[in-house]
Amino acid sequence: MTKRVLILNGPNLNLLGSREKSIYGGKTLADIEALCRETCETLDLSCDFRQSNHEGELVDWIQSARKTADAIIINPAAYSHTSLAIHDALRAVDKPVVEVHLSNIHQREPVRHHSYVSSVAVGVICGLGATGYKLAIEAVAEIL
Ligand code: DQA
Repeated sequence: MTKRVLILNGPNLNLLGSREKSIYGGKTLADIEALCRETCETLDLSCDFRQSNHEGELVDWIQSARKTADAIIINPAAYSHTSLAIHDALRAVDKPVVEVHLSNIHQREPVRHHSYVSSVAVGVICGLGATGYKLAIEAVAEIL
């Protein structure tokens, strides 16, 4: 049976392509979604790709994944560094989680060095731009 991957994107990632291009690159979120859909199709995975600027909405979607997804790929954006709620929701799902960041958060301001999501993720990819999403999908395909 086709495995289902939920790909979540946190706040301000809807602005990709125009937001701080020197840090996040020129690709829009729609470009990244297209890359994810193409990669999932190649690997026979179904792809549910979403973005929200609201922590509670992301928590709701993670909770729903208990029934509707086999793995989660998440770029929690700024919530990586602040959200115990997203950490707790991901723990409760008990499915493989891969964390992605476009930028290398460890080369940036100290406040970005810690992520509440990393300790509940099987792996973390950062600094590789949109390619990080592709690699995360490939990793999930192997894990599943
Ligand atoms: C980000 C890194 C975060 O620190 C930042 O708040 C983001 C994007 C990234 O993809 O590099 O919004 O998650």
